[in-house]
Amino acid sequence: MKRIGLMTSGGDAPGMNAAIRSVVRNTIYRNMEAIGFRRGFDGIIDADFCQLYSNSVGGIIDRGGTFLETSRSDRFLTAKGQEKAVHVLKENMIDGLVIIGGDGSFRGASRLEELGIKTVGIPGTIDNDITGTDYSIGFDTCLNTIIEMLSKIRDTASSLARIFCVEVMGRLSGEIALQAGLAGGADFILIPEIEYNFEDMCKMIVKGFDRGKNHILILVAEGAAKAYDVAAGISFVIKKDVKVTVLGHIQRGGSPSAMDRILASRFGGAAVEALNNGIHGKFVGIQNTEIVLNDYSVALKRKHEINKKMYELTKILSI
Ligand code: F6P
Repeated sequence: MKRIGLMTSGGDAPGMNAAIRSVVRNTIYRNMEAIGFRRGFDGIIDADFCQLYSNSVGGIIDRGGTFLETSRSDRFLTAKGQEKAVHVLKENMIDGLVIIGGDGSFRGASRLEELGIKTVGIPGTIDNDITGTDYSIGFDTCLNTIIEMLSKIRDTASSLARIFCVEVMGRLSGEIALQAGLAGGADFILIPEIEYNFEDMCKMIVKGFDRGKNHILILVAEGAAKAYDVAAGISFVIKKDVKVTVLGHIQRGGSPSAMDRILASRFGGAAVEALNNGIHGKFVGIQNTEIVLNDYSVALKRKHEINKKMYELTKILSI
């Protein structure tokens, strides 16, 4: 291999820059050229790329977002877009492509493989919803942002004895809500993977106040319900004002945590190593602290499962 292309795709995640830095420097270390494509699959279609040197990725390890920029490319979903992308990659002699993103990006990577382009994926999404890896880049930073926000909300909730519904991201996955709720001491966690009984929750809220709780924090995964609807429902049943905070895109920003920087650096090294050893059509991941490689089909065909025991624990801890 002589030229390795790289790109970030889909929603940005803190730590993507650390992964880019690692891919570039691991490529250069093996005497190959690193070619950065801007704006994800759109950038490939538009042949929007530049050669990256060691200095090009200096000073970015601590920056959130992605300096290569990203996109949710509609054009790559079409046969015409895919043909154009393959043409650009072949014309520019890209021997292997590292794609940093979530499961949508892996679907694109898998399609490129079918069209004869060698690719390796790196899981980069705050959602942590990719089967085949215990963690994806950005998840840990996202959790840290949420627990910081929860502490601020708790300050005011406990001062005024209030109930708060806090909505977090995660698309169809409850992983963010579950783990942020555990770390942040939420009283109730609503996630799409587990049905919750609304009446029971209202009764428990009332009981909680009777027992001496002076505030209640309910974490709502966006895939489970809208925090505004949950709040309105509770307020109607227990005749008490319920406040709402939708955390939104602040969850995707910020300087990556040490965990995410380390993960991203390891993933970047493993991805380049794989391509250099002739391995492709797979994505890197981490399982039980070890770096692993899985076929894209693992992420694309198997639904991500949450840890039910962890969910049960959150219930015990919120008594
Ligand atoms: O996949 C990451 C994510 O932040 C999801 O949690 C969320 O549902 C989605 O992206 C939001 O995407 P956008 O910023 O494109 O609206």
